Amino acid sequence: MSNLIEEVNTNLKQAIPESHLNTDLEESMMYSLQAGGKRIRPVLLLLTLNMLNEDYHKGLQSALALEMIHTYSLIHDDLPAMDDDDYRRGKLTNHKVYGEWKAILAGDALLTKAFELVSNDDLIEDNVKVKVLQRLSKASGHIGMVGGQTLDMQSENQTVDLKTLESIHKAKTGALLTFAVMAAVDIAQVDQKTSHNLNEFSEHLGLMFQIKDDLLDVYGDEKKIGKAVGSDESNNKSTYVSLLGKEGAEDKLEYHKNQALECLNNISSQYQTSELIKIVDLFYNRDH
Ligand code: IPE
Ligand code: IPE
Ligand code: MG
Ligand code: MG
Ligand code: MG
Repeated sequence: MSNLIEEVNTNLKQAIPESHLNTDLEESMMYSLQAGGKRIRPVLLLLTLNMLNEDYHKGLQSALALEMIHTYSLIHDDLPAMDDDDYRRGKLTNHKVYGEWKAILAGDALLTKAFELVSNDDLIEDNVKVKVLQRLSKASGHIGMVGGQTLDMQSENQTVDLKTLESIHKAKTGALLTFAVMAAVDIAQVDQKTSHNLNEFSEHLGLMFQIKDDLLDVYGDEKKIGKAVGSDESNNKSTYVSLLGKEGAEDKLEYHKNQALECLNNISSQYQTSELIKIVDLFYNRDH
């Protein structure tokens, strides 16, 4: 896993060259890209390809694109108009360093760069590339991450029911994690049953990830998570912790962990799921 993280980091560094325009937009983009994210999404994509006995290099551009879209979502999520946070990945947030308008534009540029990277990828066939691009657009947009962020904002100062909360989490966080797994499925072109199991697996992973994020927002250590604790409470967000309490949220985390493992268990033995099992454990136990 650490080799894959290193490969992602090296390639991210080279993905955004200086432009001929005399701006420091690239600096602002790189500031957030290189601020030290966990890289869990690109790594998940590459590990899923490995598991499917496919050369992970075929997923590298999609993995970089995914990390760019995720990073843009964080830059915008931290803006005063949204969660209004000052720290991210252990550093000042993008708008605190570069100002709001440049943070908005850095996010916009990361989003569009992502689609440029995948469309330029010559390691995958054109028909596969189109599938990946369709999946990435859907996962990022109004029925995916952006839709979830909208619901999240709309639900501030309200008590939503568990079903609504689950749909917020599935969209704002789950959609990009599902992209990680299912882009690998598109690239490796596996059978329906494996595809179905991996899709379900990714949905449980997505919920696990955000439930843990909600827990860490209250019970985490600021130094470890690299962002302020208590952000959700101060914004009056609907979270698993605010709705179900600590134990209720932990029970849900455990439930989705078991479901995720069950999905992996149903996958044919021609595929080695051990690395994905480790990812489930990581999502369950992570403290940052
Ligand atoms: C934070 O994601 C935002 C959520 C979707 C919960 P990560 O916890 O993966 O953040 P980085 O990339 O490691 O900074
Ligand atoms: C944001 O969820 C998920 C995104 C799509 C960015 P949060 O607002 O809980 O993420 P953090 O806690 O600020 O990282
Ligand atoms: Mg938010
Ligand atoms: Mg936030
Ligand atoms: Mg959070």
